[in-house]
This record gives sequence, C-alpha cells and structure tokens, in this order.
Amino acid sequence: METRRPSAEDKFSFGLWTVGWTGADPFGTASRPALDPWEYSDRLAELGAWGITFHDNDVFPFDADEATRRDRLGRLKDAADKAGLTIEMVTTNTFTHPVFKDGGLTSNDRSVRRFGLRKVLQAVDIAADMGASTFVMWGGREGAEYDGSKDLFSAFERYKEGLDTVAGYIKSRGYDLRIALEPKPNEPRGDIFLPTLGHALAMIAELDHGDIVGLNPETGHEQMANLNYTHQLAQALWCGKLFHIDLNGQRGLKYDQDLVFGHGDLLSAFFTVDLLENGFPGSPDAPRYTGPRHFDYKPSRTEHMDGVWASAAACMSTYLLLADKARAFRADSRVTEAVAYAGVPDLATPTLDDGETVDAFLQGDDGFDAEKAAERDYGFVRLNQLALEHLIG
Ligand code: GCO
Ligand code: MN
Ligand code: MN
Repeated sequence: METRRPSAEDKFSFGLWTVGWTGADPFGTASRPALDPWEYSDRLAELGAWGITFHDNDVFPFDADEATRRDRLGRLKDAADKAGLTIEMVTTNTFTHPVFKDGGLTSNDRSVRRFGLRKVLQAVDIAADMGASTFVMWGGREGAEYDGSKDLFSAFERYKEGLDTVAGYIKSRGYDLRIALEPKPNEPRGDIFLPTLGHALAMIAELDHGDIVGLNPETGHEQMANLNYTHQLAQALWCGKLFHIDLNGQRGLKYDQDLVFGHGDLLSAFFTVDLLENGFPGSPDAPRYTGPRHFDYKPSRTEHMDGVWASAAACMSTYLLLADKARAFRADSRVTEAVAYAGVPDLATPTLDDGETVDAFLQGDDGFDAEKAAERDYGFVRLNQLALEHLIG
C-alpha cells in the first residue's frame, strides 16, 4: 500500500502541539527534543498539510512579555505565509499552569476565573490577527474529582458566563470567528463538564450568543464516553453545529490515546470518512462538512523525530485511502442494491403525509399488518460486509 501525498484541496491541518509533543507523560520525561513552532510548521507544509493550529502557549511561554509574544507570533505567521499554510484555528491553554488546577472559567477562585477569562480573550485577539476562522474552547480543567468540591449549579452558570463573554466579545469586535466547543468526558479532571457532544449542544442552547458557538468533536473523546463518533458528527451536522473536527484514534475505554487517525477503530474511521466525504446517503440536500480535516493526535513516545513526521504523514495518508475506499463503496452497484434493500433512502420520507392532520391520521390504520411487517428482512449485515470488503480489499 502506498503512502498517499496530500494537496491543499484536502484541507489537512495539524495542531502544533501534536507533532510538537515531546513525549512527557505522567510517568516519564520527554523522549524527544522540542523544536521551535516554525520548524514544525515548515515540516508540516513539506508533508502536504494545508493548515496549522495552536494554543497561545505553543508559540510563547506562559509568562512571556508583550515583546516576546509579538516577536514569536510574528515569526510563526511569516513562516506560515511563506510556506503557504493557513492558520485556521487558535485556542487557549487554560490547563498546563497550576493556576488552572481547578479550571479557568469555572475555578472556585474568582481571581483565577478573571485571569483565565482575560487569557482566553487575549487568545481571541491572536486568532483574529492570525486570520483564523475558528476559536476552539476545550475546557480540560473545567470539572472535578470530588462531587462535594463544587456548587455544580454555579459551575454551569460560570461556564455559560464565560462562553457568552467570549462570544459577545467576538461579535463586539466584528471578528470573523466562530467558537467550537470540544467535549471530553475525563482526563485531566476526573469528570469534565460538557463530557459529550450532546452536553455541549445543551449548553449552547442556553447561551445568549449561541449562534456563533458550535462544536469541535474529537474521535477519541467521544469513544472514551463509549459513543459512536460518526453518530456524533451526524447530529452536529444535522443541527448546523459542526464547526471543526479533531480526528485521531482510540482503542476502547481507557486514557486519551490520541493515536494516528485510523489506528483505533478502523471500521468506525471508514464510516467517519464516508460521512465527511460522501454526506448522508439518503439526503443529498443535507448539510455537509466543508471545514478543515484537522488532526489532534500524539506521535507515540517510542518514536524519533523521523517517526513524528511519518506519523503525521500516516494521518493524512490513511484519510485519503479511506476516502478512496468510501467513494468506491458508494459507487459499487451491489452497495446501491443493498442500501435500497435495507430501506436506507426510505427514512428520508416524512412519516405523515403532506398536510395530514393528526386527527385524520388517528382515524385510519393503513391496513397495517404488524405480523407481516415483522417478517421484513433488512440485510444490514450484508451491507456492512460489503463495507468491510471495500475497506480491506
Ligand atoms: C486533549 C485535547 C486537546 C485539545 C486542545 C485544543 O488533549 O484531550 O484534545 O488536545 O484539542 O487542547 O484546545
Ligand atoms: Mn484527545
Ligand atoms: Mn482535541
């Protein structure tokens, strides 16, 4: 199997913290050197990436003065421009420094919340300066280990206050930016607020400025909650809230593995790419995702720098291979036949007739025979086997 070479049209992007992870984890120190941000972006451009993303502190240290911040952001922007890379998303680090040990927007300590909110708003300015279109908010430290440690009602109030303040600020400045919330069930906190995509959607519905707030679902995070990532993407698309994606791999219910895309549940990755590339099979007019194919993974700690670049190339190559296979799957006449037999397109037909009243509906029974309808075969297994044969064929 060949490694596929991506192009700008593929819209692949990477967080600087992904290839930039030096391998430091809770049990061991770094296993690789740290490069400068522009060195990572140059290499990603050579590999065929279209874009990059970063946290404020991937570019300048937490305690950097204004001159250092400006200098380092300027150097990164110049390098990205020269390499033809788009800085498509910027986010804030409100998790590394111990000041955030009880959260940034929901810390019990009001002085920390005020500091955290300022840091987020400053990162919004950076995002606008860099020409980013998405501002991700992953509240990794917003949560708790102990149920008695929080007034949970107030925690949701403060989370809403923080999100609305940031969204309101974006509007007041006229920035062309949208916020994308990134759900995660746990790690680093024992329980993180907004643990799944559904919880984040429910929060967005309560916001005053929810119109510019959507989602950045990550493969592994939804799978850590034992959920189906493709279903999560579908629901976000259905309600017009799929603003950004974090693709990676996860093998089962364990710590956040951040594996190369496809190195977790491969069949699930196939259907994720099928949805992203081919849309909904029975709903040609449904919303489609056209944003960046963004990878948020960690090159395993066992790899040298060569392995870092090989793993970034692997994310893109795997995506392209799966996209080819998903297209071939949909073009296969046996699949078209199996899809029709399964009744997949029929789900697009409204259950009530056009103009049918509930009263009229209740008066009839369509001559329905439950025993007969129960005899129906759907052939879902055959359809899935066709997908699998395309995938491994
Ligand atoms: C994780 C998260 C982070 C976020 C990133 C953006 O480590 O669990 O995925 O990588 O995506 O911090 O805010
Ligand atoms: Mn993750
Ligand atoms: Mn992520």
